[in-house]
Amino acid sequence: MTSNTIIPPATRLNAVQEYYFSKKLREIAAMRSEGKDVLNLGIGSPDLPPHPKVVAELNAQSQLPDTHAYQSYKGVPELRAAFAAWYGRFFKVKLNADSEVLPLIGSKEGIVHIAMSFLEKGDLALVPNPGYPAYSTATKLAGAGVMKYPLSAENGWLPDLDILNKKDLQKVKVMWVNYPNMPTGAGATKPFFEKLIAFAKKHRILVVNDNPYSFILNKNLLSLLSVDGAKGTALELNSLSKSHNMAGWRVGILAGHADLIQTVLKFKSNMDSGMFKPVQLAAAKALQLPQNWFVDLNKIYAKRREKVFELLQMLGCEWEEGNGGMFVWARVPERYKDGYELSGEVLYGAHVFLTPGGIFGSQGDRYIRVSLCAKEEIFEEAIGRIKSGGDLKSPPDLTDHIVKPPNSIA
Ligand SMILES: Cc1ncc(COP(=O)(O)O)c(C=O)c1O
Repeated sequence: MTSNTIIPPATRLNAVQEYYFSKKLREIAAMRSEGKDVLNLGIGSPDLPPHPKVVAELNAQSQLPDTHAYQSYKGVPELRAAFAAWYGRFFKVKLNADSEVLPLIGSKEGIVHIAMSFLEKGDLALVPNPGYPAYSTATKLAGAGVMKYPLSAENGWLPDLDILNKKDLQKVKVMWVNYPNMPTGAGATKPFFEKLIAFAKKHRILVVNDNPYSFILNKNLLSLLSVDGAKGTALELNSLSKSHNMAGWRVGILAGHADLIQTVLKFKSNMDSGMFKPVQLAAAKALQLPQNWFVDLNKIYAKRREKVFELLQMLGCEWEEGNGGMFVWARVPERYKDGYELSGEVLYGAHVFLTPGGIFGSQGDRYIRVSLCAKEEIFEEAIGRIKSGGDLKSPPDLTDHIVKPPNSIA
């Protein structure tokens, strides 16, 4: 890395790169400043507002004179209680609000805290390919090595535990899993989670399920902690970013055995000094919203997803039916070398940004990921631009304008 200063960065940063989206958003901003109206269908940042009651609570609490001080390192009791009740209500998991719940400034920071609390040089962490890039970077920042495990359509995007069982796992201390899965949208099942916990116990691995997508277009609410005996060997991350349209608020949760939570708190309490109390109390309100909140939200996402299917159909992509989450994960047609090529063509030719699947790992090379976080009109505009061919190198071969039923690779 070249630098204009005389201060070299710490060598640990050599193991990681600037986050893909951090760079891509700069490029999109530069294109926009040149007058190109780029439609960003890449990022999973909900465009819809939180429930009005949640915003009202934030407003009301921040008017009070005594809500502005530093807060407890482990979150206010109201938020911990609300998280525990939420897990009981939706996931049927009993959590002790005092000792088994740790509010986080978003689940992304939790990933780093877990890595820093349990991993060190000489350790390995099992990381999904494809997967959320933070699992690898957090592992590397903690000085540990990454052992990728492949996910594939053939295996329902679940890890093949029989294959992993045959590997030398002596140095593996953490396994990152993420169900419902991002980027693929695949779900796990209770029997699979039971197998996973048995695997983790056998190899003395801390298995961490990152679970922020449960409430988006997903019928099967499932927590890894619902498996009997999971708490001794598993942690679960969750978040209000996607489920409650509160990505910018930065509120998440870590749940699990009190001793594991205490270990993470030992690290985290040296990093931050609690969260703004009005944010915590408003988040507690969000967690108490009735089920209708999710029903209404999902109606909107379901309609948007139909538009995305239409767009993908036009591009000749294939996708799996029955998957959920905030994205559609689609295989690109053979005429493209990979998802990067299609993404580049659509970005520079039609000014529509779709995420190349390869940024989540080599198993995603032939895929693209389309976010549902845009209004229907934006998808319509994107469809119109791509349909017209624009400056696309290989404009879609449209023999008619009738949208056919989805191509399915399920
Ligand atoms: C799989 C996964 N985990 C975690 C996060 C981060 O969520 P949060 O906003 O709670 O930090 C994301 C965000 O995109 C994600 O896709």
